[in-house]
Amino acid sequence: MDNDTFKARIISAERALTLPADKTLLETALDAGIAYPHGCRSGRCGACKTRLLSGEVELLPHTRFALSEDEREQGLILACRAKPLSDIEVKWLAQETVSHPLVKTTGSVAGTRRLTHDIVELRLGLEAPFAYAPGQYARLTFPGLPARDYSMAPSGRDDELVFHIREVAGGRVSAAVAQAAKPGVAVQVEGPFGEAYLREGHTRPILAVAGGSGLAPVLSIVSRAVAADMRQPIHVYFGARDRHDVYGQQQLDALMAAHPRFSRQVVLSAAKGETAFRKGFVHEAIAADIDAMAGWKAYVAGPPAMVEAVGQVCRERNLRETDLHADVFFTPEDGSRASAEAASGG
Ligand SMILES: Cc1cc2nc3c(=O)[nH]c(=O)nc-3n(C[C@H](O)[C@H](O)[C@H](O)COP(=O)(O)OP(=O)(O)OC[C@H]3O[C@@H](n4cnc5c(N)ncnc54)[C@H](O)[C@@H]3O)c2cc1C
Ligand code: FES
Repeated sequence: MDNDTFKARIISAERALTLPADKTLLETALDAGIAYPHGCRSGRCGACKTRLLSGEVELLPHTRFALSEDEREQGLILACRAKPLSDIEVKWLAQETVSHPLVKTTGSVAGTRRLTHDIVELRLGLEAPFAYAPGQYARLTFPGLPARDYSMAPSGRDDELVFHIREVAGGRVSAAVAQAAKPGVAVQVEGPFGEAYLREGHTRPILAVAGGSGLAPVLSIVSRAVAADMRQPIHVYFGARDRHDVYGQQQLDALMAAHPRFSRQVVLSAAKGETAFRKGFVHEAIAADIDAMAGWKAYVAGPPAMVEAVGQVCRERNLRETDLHADVFFTPEDGSRASAEAASGG
């Protein structure tokens, strides 16, 4: 055996792989075409949580939200953070996986419109069918720019995907989208990806929390829950900085009118002056409103700090780890790999 490679047995996929020592388990598995459950690819969301049945790995830095000390002690690892130190045998934790086929296709910008001063709605017409579960995301590549992940908002059409893209200050892709996404521009679309999708078989209350453009997947999830006649209480919390960051309220109002147990709260963390909305951080509002979450499901999408804080509140209220489904909106470190691919036209 070469010193720089090890063997992995992935029980959940019934596959054996050769692992280069300088790559993470997730990178190698995805390169080999294994549908390994994952989300952020950067140790922030916990979607790739895996039981290490034998062998040793080096765990790269990750958040406690994604993997706690206790979980590490119990033999859990994050596939996106694990580099092999020996031959290993692993089993991923995700129990349910959706079975939409992975598609690589080309979309064409059908239009954009401003939702807030820094969030743009992007509509992409598609050449090939692209099935996904509400809450999942796609990897988009605009001409000359590195690939980035964006979650699908409700679209209402089979031949069109809708995204909400927030301009991140200094960001390579998001800041360019308003300019780059002119009608007719071709965009590569790959997906669907993600584990934070609606579990339609679940019957206990739902907590759905969005920060900023995290409303895109949250709207998809709760719209589908209402359309599918899921009757349990559905509590939506939308965190934003100030009034000019609030959007999507008409869609939420329509859902509230259509579902007798639907509630929504807007919470502003940096509101200037008087406002009818609540003030403070969204996790504080949830902590004040909800005492116990055993048996609930929580779907959370938005910036890392918000997702982490909401996750903490949910755990303190006895939400099970397997019922917490989060997407952390951040560019993973292997975004640089995507940059290189885009630059080389690969
Ligand atoms: C699973 C998943 C789903 C996502 N869905 C959405 C979505 O629906 N809508 C959406 O707007 N974004 C979404 N994102 C985030 C998106 O993929 C990009 O990370 C984001 O648009 C920034 O890319 P960029 O090229 O503009 O910035 P980059 O050039 O990658 O980063 C520029 C700087 O900003 C920092 N940064 C990166 N992201 C953020 C952030 N979110 N907030 C603050 N600082 C940041 C970086 O650390 C860096 O310092 C999602 C991310 C993931 C992993
Ligand atoms: S923690 Fe590994 S994919 Fe998010």
